[in-house]
Amino acid sequence: MPASPSDEQLIKRWQDQPAPLLPLLHAFNERDGHISPQALEAISAGLRLPMANLHGSVTFYHHISGEPGSRDRPRVCMGPICRLNGSEQLLQDLDGAEPMACAGRCDDPIPVLQADRALVGRFEGELQQIPSPLPPPNPDGIEECCLASVREPDRATCAGYVRTGGYAALAKAREMEPEEILQVLDDSGLAGRGGAGFPTATKWRAVRNAQGGPKTLVCNADEGEPGCFKDRVLLDHDPHAILEGMAIAGLATGATRGFIYLRYEYPQTLDILERALEEAKEQLEGFDFCVRRGAGAYICGEETSLLNSLEGEHPFPRNRPPFPVTHGFEQTPTAVNNVETLASVAPILAHGAEWYAGLGLGEHRGTKLISLSGDVERPGNYEVPMGFPLKTLLFDWAGVPEGRSVQAVTMAGLSGGFLGAADLDATLDEACLRGKGSFLGAGGIMVFDDRRDMFEIARQSMEFFASEACGKCFPCRIGTERLTERLSEPSGPLAPDAWIEEVHAIGHTMTQLSACGLGKSAPLITESLMRLFPEQVSSKLEAR
Ligand SMILES: Cc1cc2nc3c(=O)[nH]c(=O)nc-3n(C[C@H](O)[C@H](O)[C@H](O)COP(=O)(O)O)c2cc1C
Ligand code: SF4
Repeated sequence: MPASPSDEQLIKRWQDQPAPLLPLLHAFNERDGHISPQALEAISAGLRLPMANLHGSVTFYHHISGEPGSRDRPRVCMGPICRLNGSEQLLQDLDGAEPMACAGRCDDPIPVLQADRALVGRFEGELQQIPSPLPPPNPDGIEECCLASVREPDRATCAGYVRTGGYAALAKAREMEPEEILQVLDDSGLAGRGGAGFPTATKWRAVRNAQGGPKTLVCNADEGEPGCFKDRVLLDHDPHAILEGMAIAGLATGATRGFIYLRYEYPQTLDILERALEEAKEQLEGFDFCVRRGAGAYICGEETSLLNSLEGEHPFPRNRPPFPVTHGFEQTPTAVNNVETLASVAPILAHGAEWYAGLGLGEHRGTKLISLSGDVERPGNYEVPMGFPLKTLLFDWAGVPEGRSVQAVTMAGLSGGFLGAADLDATLDEACLRGKGSFLGAGGIMVFDDRRDMFEIARQSMEFFASEACGKCFPCRIGTERLTERLSEPSGPLAPDAWIEEVHAIGHTMTQLSACGLGKSAPLITESLMRLFPEQVSSKLEAR
């Protein structure tokens, strides 16, 4: 057996690399099974990071701990869909297991993470490592953009990617002026698919025009929103599409270096990406991209927390302005983009702006990946035209179990709160969903049929936001805790009217005063619960 590396060897391996803290923490964690006080001292000295800051950051992440043996302990997904599938029982059955937040596999049986393996299964003794499910093609031949080629054999290898038309768009982009690339994207209507929907060409143009450098690209593959697992299918089955999108972003913005920030819970994806980068060296000549694995924190999906996390700073969101396009990674102009956004870029350059825009319905442009899970016959990822009817997706494509009716669906994972049965005439686009008091966001939809206790689902959702609130600002830090308490136990006013008034007031303060999207959107859970399910709320409160 090879001797395990010394502290000095680990430090030497990483200290001169870009964004060295996360890989160094993982290297020590892998060697020792935890992060010991000596490891922290060695890292602090090696990276010249103050011990106090380092300690604060390290204890923030869920998957890194100072407790001996912590790395090998099984962690069981406690996302809303996994709980419906029995994850609380599995947690009890697995020796020494700990709960973890939604691990992004809601289309699979329950995920269990242990050391570097992501297993899935419903029962102890049945856990196995399996690839991400491949989505079937859309019914009725409805055209896809990002998923169009994922079912091609060997698509995840460089040879298979090139054989099926991959890297041709990058070759074309190398012949174009940066402004020409930006114009195509502008005309296509491509907007960020990570949740905020910001126009991609506008962001890239701002980076191109910003002073200073070197310019930086970041692929946001943190995918921490419960009920979202769309980036995983792209990363696992079409990794070169994301690398090609990043390289084209490089040509358009002037950036030649970049990071893929990958959520910790996708260890197989890490291997796939590292292999893809190794294989595509020739195609990606002129670009320097590397993968950095997160350590478990939902807030690190927020782009400025992500940048702090990469830099080895405490992963709080930054105050804005300045925005990352001028002051991003290490204060350089930086474009942070979601996986799906980047995966859309090469097909748009290959087929043209009009083609992409025309995939949408009516005035809507392009497509959106939807991760659909919960009480449906065929959970999974679906790439729908923007503006697609929610009912068609639910009832015709995914199928609702016979004899059941849909009571509620979540939107934007959990961040968009609930829509009720009367809202199912919605179309999947921001304009329509905002009109219904919600938003599409990253496109996670969880379905709950008439058997489900919506008050309990709301409690679990708020508990998630409370445990993931980073603590930087008090309206969110305290508000998510108070709302969780109100949903959990007899606390605060007991009279239903006073309870409702107080929950509204807490939510209002959070929406108005929270510093980032987490605290601003979490109250959509309680607001939509009270609006859609007043009987369930009253009966819970009366039973207290
Ligand atoms: C709490 C929170 C979590 C987020 N998580 C993610 C995420 O996991 N992946 C992602 O791409 N964007 C996430 N975002 C949005 C990012 O901040 C950012 O808007 C996005 O990465 C930009 O890429 P795009 O323009 O391609 O969408 C999150 C935002 C917030 C407020
Ligand atoms: S809103 Fe919540 S998650 Fe965002 S900065 Fe404030 S405490 Fe942190």
